[in-house]
Amino acid sequence: MDRSALDAAHEAAVRFFEQLPERKVGATADAAAMRKALGGPLPEEGQSAARVVEELARNADPGLVATAGPRFFGFVIGGSLPAAVGADWLTSAWDQNAGLFVLSPAAALVEETVAGWLKEIFALPASTSLGMVTGGQMANTTCLAAARHQVLAAAGWDVEAQGLAGAPRVTVLAGDDAHITIFGALRLLGLGDASVKRVQSDGQGRMRPDALRAALDTVQGPVILCAQAGDVNTGAFDPLEELVAIARSRPDVWVHVDGAFGLWAAASRKRRHLTRGLAFADSWATDAHKWLNVPYDCGLAFIRDGAAHRAAMARSAAYLQPSATDRDNYAFTPEFSRRARGFAAWAALRSLGRSGLEAMIDRCCDHALLFAERLAAAEGVQVINEVVLNQVLVRFEPPGASPAEGDRWTREVIARVQRDGVCWLSGTVWRGRALMRISVSNWSTTSQDVHRSADAILAAHRSSAPSSSGSSPAGP
Ligand SMILES: Cc1ncc(COP(=O)(O)O)c(C=O)c1O
Repeated sequence: MDRSALDAAHEAAVRFFEQLPERKVGATADAAAMRKALGGPLPEEGQSAARVVEELARNADPGLVATAGPRFFGFVIGGSLPAAVGADWLTSAWDQNAGLFVLSPAAALVEETVAGWLKEIFALPASTSLGMVTGGQMANTTCLAAARHQVLAAAGWDVEAQGLAGAPRVTVLAGDDAHITIFGALRLLGLGDASVKRVQSDGQGRMRPDALRAALDTVQGPVILCAQAGDVNTGAFDPLEELVAIARSRPDVWVHVDGAFGLWAAASRKRRHLTRGLAFADSWATDAHKWLNVPYDCGLAFIRDGAAHRAAMARSAAYLQPSATDRDNYAFTPEFSRRARGFAAWAALRSLGRSGLEAMIDRCCDHALLFAERLAAAEGVQVINEVVLNQVLVRFEPPGASPAEGDRWTREVIARVQRDGVCWLSGTVWRGRALMRISVSNWSTTSQDVHRSADAILAAHRSSAPSSSGSSPAGP
């Protein structure tokens, strides 16, 4: 076998990892330069695999963002644990189609093992089944497909057979601050925006129990409640225990929890209280590619009622060879053929162990607190949220400045920090004000990285004089 392409890939990957902690966090080339480097017509003749890999590594490099590095604090991203990267390389080498047991017993059983480990970590009921999907979007979609199946079945309607035309109307209750992917999922499922009734949330983005009670009183028929564990801006958790108790006052309410990153708080003894009541829900969506730090992509859809899960995803054909005794992964996901995502998740969990996972979650949360402490101590800087998890929202507004000046100043600080390249983070609008968002989700971030980044943010703050002439703030 010619090893040269694999050797070239290994060499380039190791070089990338070695440079990762110190490379400029943002991309160093613009779209035009990248188009030139990677575009053009497809040549008539091919070239050697090793040269292709070397060329790709060289030409893609300026357009890579160090999202996997220790000072990337944008969105909620996470890096890649070494064991998970190694397992992911093997996953590509093995090229297993993870859909059917017969195609890869290893891929099936590794997902079974991961499901067992994660159910223990999140303290989910033993009956819960797991589908490994591309991310939070598809985890929410898979869970809500099972919810749609179940609430309509309870109303005497077989949605898989009959579709939605003529079906009883399903009402979805979602908080004011529910994540955008909930709405994407509802659209894909044919429920649409019109099925949603918003439930008021508080200043931190937590759904208000009194508002849920009032909303439930106004709806009849099948209901899906979408709660949230970890708001994408504030990191706040809905009061799940109270919400579930209210939902359970009716027989026909399915409770779904979107915990794309927040669910991992359950791994920490210090932060587990935030998830109280979690186990009483019907479905849970989270990501492994965020806070478990496995390479993209890996989302996790957990459903308490395995029968509802399978019914929502059910497909069969004469040419398949389903297992009579073991797990066919495709029975739990909207995808049919797919990547064997379980190997990387298995490796991440196996390399951390329960204590390593807890330490990683706690470390990120402690770093978020350190960021908050460092930034809030400076004049003209305010931390806006209760830092309960790994998210920090920061406002830059000098004393005496108008709210519009504060918006402009905050956006200017973010732009300067991004240009400067010591760290990378982005902005948001929360309750009408422009803010900086910091998310600490990477296994390799140290307190030195936080101090260095806080220094860079404060330097940008000090050099960003508010302009009196800017236009009124627009969305990020
Ligand atoms: C609460 C929440 N739900 C869902 C998602 C979507 O996850 P993904 O980007 O993996 O699709 C996110 C992403 O940050 C999130 O924060």
